[in-house]
Amino acid sequence: MLNQSVLELKEISKKFGDRQVLTKISYQFYPQRMYGLVGPSGAGKSTILRILDLLENPTQGEIFYRGKPVGAGRSERLKMRRRIGMVFQQPVLFSGTVLDNIFYGLKVRGEKFAENKDKLEDILKLVGLEEMEKQKATTLSGGEAQRLALARVMVLEPEVLLLDEPTANLDPTNVNMIEKVLLEIRERYGTTIIIVTHNLFQAKRLVDEVLLIYDGRLVEAKPADEMFRSPEHPLSQSFIRGEIAF
Ligand SMILES: Nc1ncnc2c1ncn2[C@@H]1O[C@H](COP(=O)(O)OP(=O)(O)OP(=O)(O)O)[C@@H](O)[C@H]1O
Ligand SMILES: [Mg+2]
Repeated sequence: MLNQSVLELKEISKKFGDRQVLTKISYQFYPQRMYGLVGPSGAGKSTILRILDLLENPTQGEIFYRGKPVGAGRSERLKMRRRIGMVFQQPVLFSGTVLDNIFYGLKVRGEKFAENKDKLEDILKLVGLEEMEKQKATTLSGGEAQRLALARVMVLEPEVLLLDEPTANLDPTNVNMIEKVLLEIRERYGTTIIIVTHNLFQAKRLVDEVLLIYDGRLVEAKPADEMFRSPEHPLSQSFIRGEIAF
């Protein structure tokens, strides 16, 4: 593990109106690690992802990117956001072919198609859509669409990949494919991956570290094997036993 974090949350709190949604969350995320955010519905997991993605401002606290505080300025935040990719539960796709969709983000950044052919081929293979590059994105199955959403983000080579329940609506075969792709991404690109999951077994299979969020607080965070073997907090113990409805 490199000793500098990619992203750090420091005493992050968030209020929506009078409602306290997050309370003093601090954590450091490192390269080439996969983190699982778990916790019941309404705990604040998606809000944490949106804050990490710089889509949402915290009410209090600071975010550090590679040790430097991320300022409030719009242009600075935009620049930072380019290094972060986000995949949602419902994939956001455009009309056009699979390949058009993958190239889209590069095109917006002023890149030429011809100069990116190898990269596009690599990404298509990575997500197992190489046979479908000419297919209309709107005709893909749910699992294929989600793999395309992942490809669209990965072609931009983010340093941090955020995923909000990316496999929640998928069948076991596609869940398995997405999980394999995520492991491959972590190895090949050294990406920091932060995934929200309701699935205890997915957390067990996939992530290096588990962060249990409950009522807007970070209750316990530790390497996954330790979390599953010896959870300390009573809430973590109920989570491991499957007693909290996640
Ligand atoms: N824009 C908003 N305005 C007001 N309240 C909000 C807003 N966004 C989220 N909340 C509230 O913040 C709390 C945390 O929401 P969040 O979406 O982060 O939970 P979650 O852990 O992702 O839940 P789930 O597992 O159901 O997706 C919820 O009570 C939600 O209603
Ligand atoms: Mg959510």
